[in-house]
Amino acid sequence: MFNESAIPAQTKDPSAYTQPHTRAWSAEISKHQAFIFVLPQYNWGYPAVLKNALDYLFHEWSGKPAMVVSYGGHGGGKAAEQLKQVLQALKMRVVENMPALTFPGHDAILAATRGEEFGLAEGVWDGEREGIRRVGEELLGMLVEVEAGSVAKEGEKGQ
Ligand SMILES: Cc1cc2nc3c(=O)[nH]c(=O)nc-3n(C[C@H](O)[C@H](O)[C@H](O)COP(=O)(O)O)c2cc1C
Repeated sequence: MFNESAIPAQTKDPSAYTQPHTRAWSAEISKHQAFIFVLPQYNWGYPAVLKNALDYLFHEWSGKPAMVVSYGGHGGGKAAEQLKQVLQALKMRVVENMPALTFPGHDAILAATRGEEFGLAEGVWDGEREGIRRVGEELLGMLVEVEAGSVAKEGEKGQ
């Protein structure tokens, strides 16, 4: 669990992190311009490991677009809403629409939890593809906006 000595929002220079795993995580997240979070719902919330992984960093997430896809017995929408709030605290730009994938039944939930095939190959979520693709396009649109904004800022600095 989180074991840095400072609050990440106040750590702008990654070399100030005290833990090697934080420096490695920071380097990994800094490489990417946008993120797609795919998460299950656990007891109406999102998994603790994900919160821990988010909390370790701040500036590495900030300003970057994020898309959220949840899954669960009822689609995992409650977990997605909670995650969205946390991503906004990290100053991420979260795509408004959040696809939620509902397992086709109790047996499917149990199989998925065991890591077994539950009908994906037979196309249980094929009907969700188009919606997810559209949300992915929104994410790309946001990314283009963010990149254009940073190019403009760089230009202003040069003047
Ligand atoms: C601790 C735990 C709590 C869960 N709580 C919910 C829940 O609140 N709502 C739901 O729809 N599914 C719930 N599930 C079912 C999960 O959505 C399902 O097990 C899913 O396959 C878990 O994802 P994973 O296999 O990637 O961990 C829960 C599963 C676990 C292990």
